[in-house]
Amino acid sequence: MQRVAVITGASQGLGLELARSLAADGWSLVIDARRAEVLDEAVAAIEAVAGHGAKVSAVAGDVADAGHRAHLADAARAAGTVRLVVNNASTLGATPLPALVDLDAATYLRTLEVNLVAPVALIGALADQLGDGATIVNVSSDAAVEPYDHWGGYGSSKAALDHASMILAEEHPAWRVLAVDPGDLDTELHRAAFPGEDLSDLPGPEVAVPGLRRLIDGAMPSGRYRAQELVR
Ligand SMILES: NC(=O)c1ccc[n+]([C@@H]2O[C@H](COP(=O)([O-])OP(=O)(O)OC[C@H]3O[C@@H](n4cnc5c(N)ncnc54)[C@H](OP(=O)(O)O)[C@@H]3O)[C@@H](O)[C@H]2O)c1
Repeated sequence: MQRVAVITGASQGLGLELARSLAADGWSLVIDARRAEVLDEAVAAIEAVAGHGAKVSAVAGDVADAGHRAHLADAARAAGTVRLVVNNASTLGATPLPALVDLDAATYLRTLEVNLVAPVALIGALADQLGDGATIVNVSSDAAVEPYDHWGGYGSSKAALDHASMILAEEHPAWRVLAVDPGDLDTELHRAAFPGEDLSDLPGPEVAVPGLRRLIDGAMPSGRYRAQELVR
């Protein structure tokens, strides 16, 4: 059976770089993002490097939508055996980032829905396809552990995702559940947090991929990791 990875938010940034790396090694992929035209371009970029037998299924949609998550699960079932789920899609909430007391409740709820509830619910939608040894990567952030001012909404959603990852690992010892901080990267999400600032001194998202691949391909146990430290 073809091994399959489900990666959310793989139209650009870290998700796209990881998708290209896995496809080059023959993984079939089920990927998503909301902007369909950007997702189509990503499929072409992934297929250009895909190894023998690797197929890419793209489903445009919002991870916070239960119907969309069911479509991802259907696409995964059709593609083969799910060995890897990467919950990568995230939102900052409002930008510029407001102080926590100024964060309106609707934006905070949306941040928690996308960054915390949707990743857990996607694992639920895929649970009957996740056999022993399946790997779950929940993409975290240093903002989950460091109290950066104005990052409270996003940071608390990622802190809660770290905690949910530990709970999932306890409840499903047959899975490896990895919460992974990719480190600072020059991406659209990061640039949106610092409007008007030049972040080009930061590395591109590809620098986090070797550490992620070490975790995915290796046997390190469930836990929290920093991707870039794994390859120093
Ligand atoms: N960049 C950094 O420095 C940094 C640092 C620490 C952690 N991270 C984490 O790394 C991960 C990847 O972020 P990135 O920096 O690569 O960001 P990015 O370049 O902005 O990519 C985000 C991806 O997620 C998709 N996405 C966003 N919201 C979505 C939703 N509701 N449903 C489906 N897809 C959605 C985006 O496409 P659409 O907009 O078209 O949906 C895009 O494909 C995130 O979990 C982020 O929190 C990043």
